[in-house]
Amino acid sequence: MAKANTVSLSVIRRLPRYYRFLGELLKSGCNRISSKELSERMGLTASQIRQDLNCFGGFGQQGYGYNVPALYEEIAKILGLDKKQKTILIGAGNLGRAIVTHMDFSRRGFDLIGIFDVNEQLIGKKVSNVSILHINKLEEFCRVNAPTVAILCIPKEAAKNLADPLVELGIKGFWNFSHYDLAIDYHGIVVENVHLGDSLMTLCYRVNQNMAPESPKS
Ligand code: NAI
Repeated sequence: MAKANTVSLSVIRRLPRYYRFLGELLKSGCNRISSKELSERMGLTASQIRQDLNCFGGFGQQGYGYNVPALYEEIAKILGLDKKQKTILIGAGNLGRAIVTHMDFSRRGFDLIGIFDVNEQLIGKKVSNVSILHINKLEEFCRVNAPTVAILCIPKEAAKNLADPLVELGIKGFWNFSHYDLAIDYHGIVVENVHLGDSLMTLCYRVNQNMAPESPKS
């Protein structure tokens, strides 16, 4: 198998989609799929899929296609879904609570062990069985529990102030919903910035393009 850091990020970004499709195939009772059928279902070319999977050793067999359960397991291993990174979430407001409630962390390689907020009214409450602690307990909590991932669902200024301490406390990866662009400041720390608004504006552009009246013929 190729070392993960030699594989391009664009290939890595496609793996969760393979994993999701294969999971759906498994659920529907499909154990084997031709590379042509998989490519049609996923809207990729068979050669693209082959190239992607070849980065990790290749899993298809000529004339057989792909063994769905085996490939599903392999992709889970490549993504490290079994490792369960200890994770904390900061900001138990509307977004933070929605994420905790709807995201199945354990199926995706994470174990949510703590939630933090500054709002006294939230302290002691639970979301999906995880207690909300005051942010002033963050340092002690991290020293004892050693989380490696932080999910930021706080305003920009709060994220800016907390980023340094979190890195010092051992956080190696951020799932960052705040509008503070962490990637600029921290070398060697993995950041996934999520901006739902960007996706929405991209949709806006594409819908507008489709609806644009054809330019008059000269
Ligand atoms: P919210 O106001 O409901 O929740 C924010 C929570 O953060 C509050 O409970 C507040 O007490 C807490 N907080 C503030 N400063 C803190 C600190 N220093 N330490 C710990 N907790 C702190 O807001 P909502 O709707 O949950 O959004 C959270 C943030 O995420 C907002 O800044 C918003 O702009 C951003 N957002 C980003 C999206 C994205 O796609 N990236 C989508 C929606 C919101």
